[in-house]
Amino acid sequence: MAKKQKKAKSKVKAAAKKSARKVVKLASAKKANGNGLPKPSNKPWGQAGKALEGVKILDFTHVQSGPTCTQLLAYMGADVIKVERPGAGDITRGQLRDVPNADSLYFTMLNGSKRSITIDSKHPKGMEILNRLIKTCDVLVENFAPGALDRMGLTWDYVHKTNPRMIVASVKGFGPGPYEDCKVYENVAQCAGGAASTTGFREGPPLVTGAQIGDSGTGLHLALGIVSALYQRNRTGRGQKVLCAMQDGVLNLTRVKLRDQQRLAHGPLTEYSQYSEGVPFGKAVPRAGNDSGGGQPAWLLKCKGWESDPDAYIYFITQAPVWGAICDLIGEPTWKTDPDYATPKARLPRLKKIFARIEEWTVTKTKFEVMDICNAADIPVGPILSMKEIAEDQSLRKTGTVVEVDHPIRGKYLTVGNPIKLSDSPADVRRSPLLGEHTDEILKDVLGYKAAEIAEIKTSGAITAPEKKEKAA
Ligand code: COA
Repeated sequence: MAKKQKKAKSKVKAAAKKSARKVVKLASAKKANGNGLPKPSNKPWGQAGKALEGVKILDFTHVQSGPTCTQLLAYMGADVIKVERPGAGDITRGQLRDVPNADSLYFTMLNGSKRSITIDSKHPKGMEILNRLIKTCDVLVENFAPGALDRMGLTWDYVHKTNPRMIVASVKGFGPGPYEDCKVYENVAQCAGGAASTTGFREGPPLVTGAQIGDSGTGLHLALGIVSALYQRNRTGRGQKVLCAMQDGVLNLTRVKLRDQQRLAHGPLTEYSQYSEGVPFGKAVPRAGNDSGGGQPAWLLKCKGWESDPDAYIYFITQAPVWGAICDLIGEPTWKTDPDYATPKARLPRLKKIFARIEEWTVTKTKFEVMDICNAADIPVGPILSMKEIAEDQSLRKTGTVVEVDHPIRGKYLTVGNPIKLSDSPADVRRSPLLGEHTDEILKDVLGYKAAEIAEIKTSGAITAPEKKEKAA
């Protein structure tokens, strides 16, 4: 066996031993408590460190899918070091700009709580810095087009040999197969993952949804993959590859429609309003408009003001256990016992008529009045909230789901904080970094470069934009 390989193997063994020792230590700490339970933290709420404290992420992501993942890891306490191309950075910094010369909201809302370092990965000195990062970090996350990471020289074999503990996590458009080499954006994934063909109205074309299930959805899947790989590394001492294909991520979120595809072989989908309208089903799951998607029939109903307010609607679920309360509310108490309406099965062919009758009631109230009245009667409903209403919602601000941060160039902006709440590890939501803002501190504090070496790196052109390279030369 080559000397280097032997060395790598013994490093892995040592790491595995170390994490095994940690587990033993933890077990004896439990014993010391007497009752077999770990002691609760005696630090003030949220001060017991962050869930992913100590985890270093080499963040090679761009646009939306990868950055969503690494932003979540940063919220959980990981040190996320975003590597960007000198001079240009993540392409979204300049896309959909609302404030001249300031990083766009597209960028700032996906890259909070991270640090930015500029490195030209195609420069020999740049590759040297990247090598140090690979040795130092725990996870490399990337969402380049297929093959781009390999073309940089950062193949799995190379990274694994350089740091056998490193996890390499990737988002790609498609998994292995006929489309694996394709570049993919959000809506391509929505189309290929089955979401678009099952979204929209039957009479209309397939529809993409505003929720970024292809990008942000896959980023979320990737974050889970990374945390799982970190957990497994505690036992094995070894990193692994984590791959999330956007098509797979979308399909995972559209699984109820694959459920319906199989049910279709056994007869019509009776909870689809198409059934109550007497329209026959084809071979594939149809678009179902605002039908529920679950076992409780539901529809979107107009509320007071709908003529001028495009969002004056309520989503109304005719949950079976509260059918009686619904009948009382809309003034149809006889429907509680009428055999045509009394059971969920009897109601299925009459859903159109039922929702028309409920709407006669909802249209006399605002969506918030309907919400209040129905909640008091335990009837599940949901108001259609506009983005304006969400941006102004104080309860979302209080929980940290919507956070205002201050940016040195663009000023204050709203971002989405951590939707996952941990009691010991509340998210620390910080503004996004300027391009290369932390280059010096990362070179010095994370990678241990001396002042003279940093000066040399600066003149080498490895961390500066091409025009600055000429000046430096
Ligand atoms: N220094 C030098 N070069 C760098 C660099 C750096 N720091 N960072 C990136 N680059 C180069 C790469 O080496 C690559 O160059 P190459 O193609 O010559 O090898 C290039 O920049 C990156 O390219 P790529 O990922 O192909 O970007 P793109 O703008 O052409 O394509 C996507 C964008 C999103 C379509 C593509 O990245 C993709 O399909 N990604 C996977 C799926 C995905 O995540 N899609 C959703 C995005 S929200």
